[in-house]
Parts: sequence; C-alpha cells; structure tokens
Amino acid sequence: MKIAFVGKGGSGKTTLSSLFIRHLAVARIPVIAVDADINQHLGPALGLDEEEAAALPAMGSRLPLIKDYLRGSNPRVASTETMIKTTPPGGGSRLLRIREDNPVYEACARPVQLEDGAAVRLMVTGPFTESDLGVACYHSKVGAVELCLNHLVDGRDEYVVVDMTAGSDSFASGMFTRFDTTFLVAEPTRKGIAVYRQYKEYARDFGVALHVVGNKVQGPDDVAFLRDEVGEDLLVTFGHSDWVRTMEKGHPPRFEALEPANRRALAALYETADASYERRDWGRYTHQMVHFHLKNAESWGNVKTGADLASQVDPAFTLHEDLREGVPAEAGEAVSQPA
Ligand SMILES: Nc1ncnc2c1ncn2[C@@H]1O[C@H](COP(=O)(O)OP(=O)(O)O)[C@@H](O)[C@H]1O
Ligand SMILES: [Mg+2]
Repeated sequence: MKIAFVGKGGSGKTTLSSLFIRHLAVARIPVIAVDADINQHLGPALGLDEEEAAALPAMGSRLPLIKDYLRGSNPRVASTETMIKTTPPGGGSRLLRIREDNPVYEACARPVQLEDGAAVRLMVTGPFTESDLGVACYHSKVGAVELCLNHLVDGRDEYVVVDMTAGSDSFASGMFTRFDTTFLVAEPTRKGIAVYRQYKEYARDFGVALHVVGNKVQGPDDVAFLRDEVGEDLLVTFGHSDWVRTMEKGHPPRFEALEPANRRALAALYETADASYERRDWGRYTHQMVHFHLKNAESWGNVKTGADLASQVDPAFTLHEDLREGVPAEAGEAVSQPA
C-alpha cells in the first residue's frame, strides 16, 4: 500500500506520518518510510538522534545506481542517462518489492528500531538546498522516489509511507497520482484549506483518493470549521498531543501511552488506507505513469536527453501484483503481458 502525507509546511505531515508508521510497525506490518519533505525530519520523528539522521544516505545522490538497477535489461531504456524520473517500467525492467533485499535498499534504506523489536526501513531524499527549489534538482531528488514507486509491486499488508511536500513539483511529475491513499494534513486555518483546495483541483482528474486529516484541532469550533470547508473529505482530526511534545524533547514515551483519541484517529487512518486496496486499478496506475512520462518527455525530457523518450513506453506492459510470481528467476526481471 502506497500512502502519502501531504500538506503545508508546519501542518504536521511529519508528525502524523511518523505516528502512522509507528502504528503499523508495532502491529508488525512491514513498512518502508520515505522522507520526501523539504524539511527532512522524518528520521528524528522516528527517534533517530541528530548524528544518526545526518548519516542517512540520500536517495538524491544515488540516482544513477537506482536507475541502473531498475532499468535491468529493458531494451527500451538504452542507458541510465536517458532514464528520467518518469520513465515507466517495461519488459526487462527490475521491480521492487517491499519485503525483499535489493541493491536499492542496500544503498538507500536504513533500519530504524522503534520499540520491542518493531522496526522500519527508512529512505530519505536528502536535504534540499536553496538551488534545489528551482525546479531541476528538486525534481531529481523527489524523482528518485517516483521512480521507485513506479517500479514497486506491493500487496495489501505492506506499506510505503511517504512524507511529502504538497507543492507544484509533485503535480508536474505525476508523483501525486502514485498513492492508494493520500492524507492531506490541515490545520483549521484558511491556509490549510487553501492547500487542500489546490490539491483537490489537481487530483480531480486522476482519481486520487484524498482524505483530510485535521491536526492541532482544539475543540468543536475547529472541527466545525474543517467540516464546513472540506465536507465529506474530512476523515478524522488529531488534537494537541503531549506524547508528541515529550517525544520532541528527546524522550519518546511508549507508543501505547499515546492519547486514546489520537490512537483512535490512527486506527481510522489505517482502516481507510487498508480499504483503498479494493479500489486498486493497476491498469489505470500504469496508464497514468505513461501519461506523465509522455508529458515530461515532451516538455523537457526529450530536449534534455537528446532522445525520443516516448519510445521507452512498452505498450504491452501492465504493472501488476501478480508479477511477484510471474517474474523470471534471473534477477527478478519484469515480464511483458497483454495490457
Ligand atoms: N498533534 C500535535 N500535537 C503536538 N504537536 C504537534 C502536533 N502536530 C504537529 N506538532 C508539532 O508542530 C510542529 C510542526 O509539525 P511537523 O510534523 O514538523 O510539520 P510538517 O512536517 O507538516 O512541516 C512540530 O514541532 C510538531 O511537533
Ligand atoms: Mg515535515
């Protein structure tokens, strides 16, 4: 299951994704946590100290390795240089699974121990510098995540949770269409709602399952405000959490000590995420990645690489969970199948 937490800076994306990740991990559900937020803070929110967080390998600086692995022996992707962040998998590509070891995880993922043996794998895009925010490099950092999502075959009881900035960058690339469920974290403020409206607008044409998660909600007035503004899209609300505050002081309490109301809210997130499995459509998922690839090829990719990137699309290929079984033994290559 691919889950995104988006919202405006400071709304609580990182806090709520880290709580959701803990909720899954203590239930022994396999999780890969991905930090793609501009402020890289998911590691510390999962309990890493400064030194450990700083030592995490950045996906953004391992793009050639990621591309080379995923490309596999796909004849349509002639080189890593012509592979862009939206290049879709096809026959010969290597696919990723949540429960496996592979060179991408080896290079980019690190285990984070939570409590009582609960653990997750953490991957981070790497810190964004001033220059990253002017399009190209920012794209390449988040692009590493998009490539991985587009090459992932995941089942129901295993999760990738991405902490991600809601910005125009994720709309240009197609990143925002890569999730079974998107949780938009919003404080009960006009700014929080403005981000929701923009996201909803982009999401409309792509069947994105968007749910608003209210955060820092202080009372019935706050809930009523959110309900008025977003209607049925409001899934659940979180209040101020002393547990979170204590954790931020560097002393994470045991997870079971989280306030009951916030625990119930997490259970509601899980229920919604799990239920979205029923609405999965691999055909649409593959179709959308091709759509965004062609768009990116035309707008900058062809010029940048000097190649016709439309020819990277394998028309006979549909990504599918069954590829888990249908993969040839040699190094986990994908097979083409009738679309
Ligand atoms: N429910 C909450 N209870 C207490 N503090 C919270 C809560 N949600 C967020 N915070 C605090 O608000 C600040 C911003 O949250 P953060 O998750 O970093 O936002 P974002 O990732 O959206 O920028 C952090 O200091 C965090 O600890
Ligand atoms: Mg954050």
